[in-house]
Amino acid sequence: MTSSSPLTGELKWWQSGIIYQIYPRSFQDDSGDGVGDLRGITRRLPYVASLGVRAVWLSPIFTSPMRDFGYDVADYCDIDPLFGTLADFDALVQEAHRLGLKVMLDYVPNHSSSDHKWFQAALEGRDSEKRDWYVWRDPAPDGGVPNNWRSFFGGPAWTLDEASGQYYLHQFLPSQPDLNWRNPAVRAAMFEALRFWMRRGVDGFRVDVIWLLAEDDRYLDEPENPEWQVGQPEHWRLLHPYTQDQPETHEYIREMRAVLDEFDDRMMVGEIYLPVERLLPYAGREDAQMVHLPFNFHLILMAWEASGVRAFADSYDAACLDARSWPNWVLGNHDQHRFKTRVGAAQYRVAQTLLLTLRGTPTVYYGDEIGMENVPIPYEQMVDPAGLQQPDSPAAGRDPERTPMQWDATPNAGFSAPGTQPWLPLAGDAAQVNVQAQEADPASDLHYFRTLTRLRADHPALVGGTYRSVDAAPGVFAFYREGDGERLTVLLNFTGDSADLPELTIGQTLLSSHGDQPGSGAPLRPHEARILR
Ligand code: NOJ
Repeated sequence: MTSSSPLTGELKWWQSGIIYQIYPRSFQDDSGDGVGDLRGITRRLPYVASLGVRAVWLSPIFTSPMRDFGYDVADYCDIDPLFGTLADFDALVQEAHRLGLKVMLDYVPNHSSSDHKWFQAALEGRDSEKRDWYVWRDPAPDGGVPNNWRSFFGGPAWTLDEASGQYYLHQFLPSQPDLNWRNPAVRAAMFEALRFWMRRGVDGFRVDVIWLLAEDDRYLDEPENPEWQVGQPEHWRLLHPYTQDQPETHEYIREMRAVLDEFDDRMMVGEIYLPVERLLPYAGREDAQMVHLPFNFHLILMAWEASGVRAFADSYDAACLDARSWPNWVLGNHDQHRFKTRVGAAQYRVAQTLLLTLRGTPTVYYGDEIGMENVPIPYEQMVDPAGLQQPDSPAAGRDPERTPMQWDATPNAGFSAPGTQPWLPLAGDAAQVNVQAQEADPASDLHYFRTLTRLRADHPALVGGTYRSVDAAPGVFAFYREGDGERLTVLLNFTGDSADLPELTIGQTLLSSHGDQPGSGAPLRPHEARILR
């Protein structure tokens, strides 16, 4: 396949740059309460900049009762005291910009916290001026829930408000009532929140569950999912033709985009778990633009196996070219198990290399650059409601991937002062796997990550160049990135066998995951990632 892909100079920051996700509770605690905060993040920004990334995305920092750790917003235009103040936030933005980093916030439009004054007003009764800001239904004829819709965290998606006798909708916790996006007043208020932050210098947004904004207003039961298996999250028991990916959602996103376009050079990336043919339409068309990047989570969801990953990368790259949509890639986030744990330690650098060399914007989750792994959390120590509410679904809890950043070998790994109790336990290997130790070791994962980002900076072909996969050997995924008068070859060995690839290994090795410079023609070793010119 040949493609015409723009070169780096013509690209926007969110196309050429790398996005780095910070989970604020877990990055750096400077206030000494065991929970990370804005001042801590600001102090660590030089480290973030040193990684060679272009933007930081902060998971929610807004006023919140924290029942879903900030994804339950009680005031869209203020900072939760746990994290700091608006002045701390302004200082963070200033420091980030000084370092050349863009700042992205997490915008949570589908639902507010039940503590939000809008919902409190809605609870005053059917005549409340804010009643229609949320989604209300009368009980079914038997007095029960209006239909069979289920919450993502288990249990019905409806909770009864006894005072009025009506149920309200919540796709997540009962304390996260769904906002009614059909109501223009809701949209106007939510758009004002975007303007509030953009006026403060925010460069972009990650938009939470953007594909869930609207529901079908016939409120029909959702069908059973014939593929659901015992042990999988309860929400998967149903298919979701009426609660996800509705035509109205596309309209609302176009309006949202117009709000971003009132400002210079802002962007949004949408959280969307959908197959490619339903994902790419979220980027919109030239005349009706939507999100700049619809998150592509497929590397997380698919089996880690060379031919499947190659087939997906081929079809996704081609689909993006067809749709004139800029590709993007993700290996981890605060809802998914750490990628090193998923693919296995032997494959860690292969996966990291893939993420940073495919065509498209990579999003990196904090700590993945030093190879942080899932931290096993026993049920008694769990704090994530998704895990606590689904004890029969062991993989549902998200605490294992949210543990404190490992900065050094001191008792709380430099995340919190020694003697403080961090909100989640630290990894057992924090004394060995940490930033300070890896800074001192040229062969570390951290230096490997920096070498990859430097290669991207030095070789525009890796950023704006075309992508074309080539046949290699079973278990090896090989592709070319070409542009700006240069062709780079990326070889990824997904197996523990070495592979003789006489044609593909000719050239100068720019990087090997094994830390050396194999000569031209040297076979690809087990689990090796190699980039050649
Ligand atoms: C998706 C977020 O990523 C997740 O952490 C959160 O629990 C839900 N949306 C609800 O906001």
